[in-house]
Amino acid sequence: MPDLVDRVAARIKAQFLTESSGHDWYHIQRVWQLARQIAEQEGARRDIAELGALVHDIADWKFHDGDDRIGPRQAEQLLTSEGAPAEVIAAVVDIVATISYKGAGVATPMRTLEGQCVQDADRLDAIGAIGIARCFAYGGHAGRLMHDPEQAPELHQSAAAYKASKGASLNHFYEKLFLLKERMNTATGRRLAEPRHRFMEDFVQQFLAEWNVTG
Ligand code: ADP
Ligand code: NI
Repeated sequence: MPDLVDRVAARIKAQFLTESSGHDWYHIQRVWQLARQIAEQEGARRDIAELGALVHDIADWKFHDGDDRIGPRQAEQLLTSEGAPAEVIAAVVDIVATISYKGAGVATPMRTLEGQCVQDADRLDAIGAIGIARCFAYGGHAGRLMHDPEQAPELHQSAAAYKASKGASLNHFYEKLFLLKERMNTATGRRLAEPRHRFMEDFVQQFLAEWNVTG
């Protein structure tokens, strides 16, 4: 029988290949690979980091009427049905419950080193070239403008305010994406974030130059 990580990967792949809500299988696959790399570098338990990455988006509150308890519950059911040990289930469910970004002014600490690795991996896939693409893909899906020069970015001070925001996609850079580099948990995450962060800065500078027809 394939090992637990491979069995969970196969089930998540089957579920997410047919999803088009922005959390496609390839996002999960990249986060899985990044989490494995970071866990190796940081000396974290690889099985917990890999499983955490595989199930981290299993049920996002954005697509379940804001309910953030569904993800941890579905992760628990999946891991239980695959016979995962209780301590592994507890550690992974805790990662799913605490991983999300909740606004510029809201701390989102992870309780374990493995959780820190998975959160860094997920946030690395939200920045850089892929992050830019995902931001506008999500914005299109949610009916947002690319940019609204009349609307200033908001540094949300509560998860509720962040969840309720309907801003233009370019504001998302100031409200989340540019802030992620400083919020990396691990040295490996910080190192990997640097070139991605610079690429986004260059992109926004060029975007605004073209928008204002000055570049
Ligand atoms: P992740 O899967 O990395 O935890 P999310 O579930 O929060 O990220 O969002 C999925 C993608 O959509 C991410 O790349 C994120 O930055 C982007 N996104 C989330 N909210 C917005 C928004 N209000 N405007 C534009 N992009 C967004
Ligand atoms: Ni994710």
